[in-house]
Amino acid sequence: MAQQKEWVLVADDELSMREALGMSVGRMGFAVDLAEDGRQALEMLGRRPYRLMITDVKMPKLDGMDLLKQARELYPLLPVLVITGYGTIPGAVEAMKNGATDYVVKPFSIEVLEKAVQDCLTAAPVTASVANQHGENVRIITRNPRMQKLLQIACKVAKADATVMIQGESGTGKELVALLIHAESPRAAGPFVAVNCAALPEHLLESELFGHEKGAFTGAAVRKQGKFELAGGGTILLDEVGEMALPLQSKLLRVLQERKVDRVGGGLPIPVDIRVIATTNADLRARVEKGAFREDLYYRLAVIPLELPPLRDRPEDVEVLTDHFLEQFGATGGITGAAKQKLLNHPWKGNVRELRNVVERAALLAGDQAIDVDHLALDGKIGDTGPREAADGDSSRNLRDIERRTIIATLAEHGGNRTRTAEVLGISIRTLRNKLKEYALEGHEAPKGGAGAAD
Ligand SMILES: Nc1ncnc2c1ncn2[C@@H]1O[C@H](COP(=O)(O)OP(=O)(O)OP(=O)(O)O)[C@@H](O)[C@H]1O
Ligand SMILES: [Mg+2]
Repeated sequence: MAQQKEWVLVADDELSMREALGMSVGRMGFAVDLAEDGRQALEMLGRRPYRLMITDVKMPKLDGMDLLKQARELYPLLPVLVITGYGTIPGAVEAMKNGATDYVVKPFSIEVLEKAVQDCLTAAPVTASVANQHGENVRIITRNPRMQKLLQIACKVAKADATVMIQGESGTGKELVALLIHAESPRAAGPFVAVNCAALPEHLLESELFGHEKGAFTGAAVRKQGKFELAGGGTILLDEVGEMALPLQSKLLRVLQERKVDRVGGGLPIPVDIRVIATTNADLRARVEKGAFREDLYYRLAVIPLELPPLRDRPEDVEVLTDHFLEQFGATGGITGAAKQKLLNHPWKGNVRELRNVVERAALLAGDQAIDVDHLALDGKIGDTGPREAADGDSSRNLRDIERRTIIATLAEHGGNRTRTAEVLGISIRTLRNKLKEYALEGHEAPKGGAGAAD
């Protein structure tokens, strides 16, 4: 499959300049749109996702500074390169203050322009801030072009009410992207409600989502509103939607088609005003093929599919994320070159969550010192028992102990992702959940994170 070209928008009122810019950027391998004033540029921004906008300052109708300000509002993740005229330093300062990614001063050579374009795309990691469900500010950081483009598309689709399906391995940032979509949507002031479809058995999930009337089943002592109702005016995130049982899938389909919910044991359907975002880390197409997931529901959910690349496919992010987490966990001593190299070479099965946990633990162990290779414990030296040891190294040959160690080690290996762990071990997520509950009761600690566990 041919690689799709990325688009750059060039806005300049001067024809010769516009065309020269367009040609240079075109030679760098981008597809280019040309706008002759700010207003036209703004209109074009609404038509497709751009990788970069290059704009002149002095333009009729809407000048470059106002275009920049509006683009910042509407497309917060779009890098903007500003071309300032006649060596006006105040103009450059103003551009940077208004959120330009970089600027070049006229006249400039092609080399200077190319370098500025490159810098805009790679040097500055794209950062978006969103509030999580606890009202804390969390940041989405990436230097990876594919991720940057995906975040841009997410911001764009946020404006409409279309259902979004976010696919990606555990810990790749699916929930963060869902929060971004909510924050960038007209529903931002409304609630954001997340439900993990893998965490509850079928009948509990049903009443969790749809609510129930008093006396609907044993234990339903009072009437309860479901999460669909609670998300009214806002967004509902259906995490790991692939784990939903078939009967519930039919009920969900009805919600999506009719925007109404039926409480368990209830009378009239209740209208709900919601935006639905679903996530999955399983290959949902394959589940459709196997008959485990309804095809019609799949198409209803995947109106806008977004696929998050795993961390191992975006090595440039390991470094920026490491720095981000070092700061977050107050690692004052920094990190040695060897340790950083080790992080860069690690396969990151648990993705960003695993990296975060590793940095957090290392920061604790290192204290005021620089984090070194030993502090990273990437070979599982601290605490957890590897599968090999579980099989033959340990003195206990008790089958139950071996099972427990294997489960806990596999869970650790997959960054705490229960869905993956269950898959790898060939057991149901339900069985896994029950086993983990038993271990917790017996005082054996399982690694945190992943589906159904607190982050
Ligand atoms: N690009 C990023 N920048 C900063 N932090 C990130 C980024 N991506 C993920 N994280 C952090 O990594 C952790 C996991 O992210 P998140 O919960 O969004 O992943 P997920 O794909 O929903 O995982 P799961 O499949 O296990 O539910 C969180 O602590 C999140 O804040
Ligand atoms: Mg998640």
